[in-house]
Amino acid sequence: MHEFRSVALDDRAGALVILDQTRLPGEVVYLRLSRLEDIWEAIKNLRVRGAPAIGIAAAYGIYLAVRNSGVGAPEEAVALFKHAKQYLETSRPTAVNLFWALNRMEERLAAASRAESRSASSSASVGNLFSALKEEADSIRDEDARMCRAIGGHGLSLLQRGWGLLTHCNAGALATSEFGTALAPIYLGDQRGYHFRVFADETRPLLQGARLTAWELSEAGVDVTLICDNMAATVMKKGLVQAVLVGCDRVAANGDTANKIGTLGVAILAKRYGIPFYVLGPSSTIDLACPNGASIAIEERPGDEITTKWYASPLAPEHIKTFNPAFDVTDAPLITAIITENGIARPPFERSLAEFAR
Ligand code: MRU
Repeated sequence: MHEFRSVALDDRAGALVILDQTRLPGEVVYLRLSRLEDIWEAIKNLRVRGAPAIGIAAAYGIYLAVRNSGVGAPEEAVALFKHAKQYLETSRPTAVNLFWALNRMEERLAAASRAESRSASSSASVGNLFSALKEEADSIRDEDARMCRAIGGHGLSLLQRGWGLLTHCNAGALATSEFGTALAPIYLGDQRGYHFRVFADETRPLLQGARLTAWELSEAGVDVTLICDNMAATVMKKGLVQAVLVGCDRVAANGDTANKIGTLGVAILAKRYGIPFYVLGPSSTIDLACPNGASIAIEERPGDEITTKWYASPLAPEHIKTFNPAFDVTDAPLITAIITENGIARPPFERSLAEFAR
């Protein structure tokens, strides 16, 4: 498998180490981030991205914010944590894993503080709060790695040898602790000689498919073909695609699924051509508090991502009006199944997701 890790902790140096995904595929550059503002910036500007990786980065980020602050008393640590949590929550609104991971860290801190307030020495106790936060962040990362493997196994059970598979955006090793979600069955199948042929949508405007999916699959020796987003219909119509595999940023209780902008169009095409459309993600991406897609906040990003960002010269007139939603919501009836580490949820999703969510 890959040598790289999208996100890791260097505890001794007090730094979050991220593979800067904005520099791929041209350069493999690791950033070492110790300041909370830099971790926020890395999430906001997609240096670390993909729902599970964002959650892991936030968990380690908030641990480091508290630990690196030099606070000496438990109450100070708790106050600083609250401030850092509110701040990190403003980085990106759509992926629920960010909020899920931070809430989990908060619960762990609260439990550790309760335990410490019953004990005597305050100098020992702040160290115990740091340890509790680190342990929780490590668990979030380790669980993610296990969940990705399990998702790979469940996903592979739906696929056949030699199939053509289409994916959108990047839901691979770069977007998680390792292995990926939508790409997990592809990696597992590759290890088992399934010989899949993968079509990667380039994924305008930020080109996660071209820059990231095409890179990580080809680095792993998987047969991958890059297509422009507007070519998905053609490869489907030609019979080159037997299943679509995509990740997710937030799955509502009724199965409506937010994922990278363009996913909805792919799902509509898959329905038209009778191709199964599978959503793959950890159960932490299911948000039962969201009744349906209409209640999912969709991040809107700057227009220069459409007009200028990745291009040597502007692609559009300087002052052109733009609309740049970063995600869309695929309506549940377009989804064949939602695959988590706990198994394969099928419609009606109201019932199956409630069983599969944590
Ligand atoms: O804006 P991004 O690159 O963070 O969007 C990522 C996606 O839409 C992924 O498909 C999703 O987060 C799942 S990653 C396993």
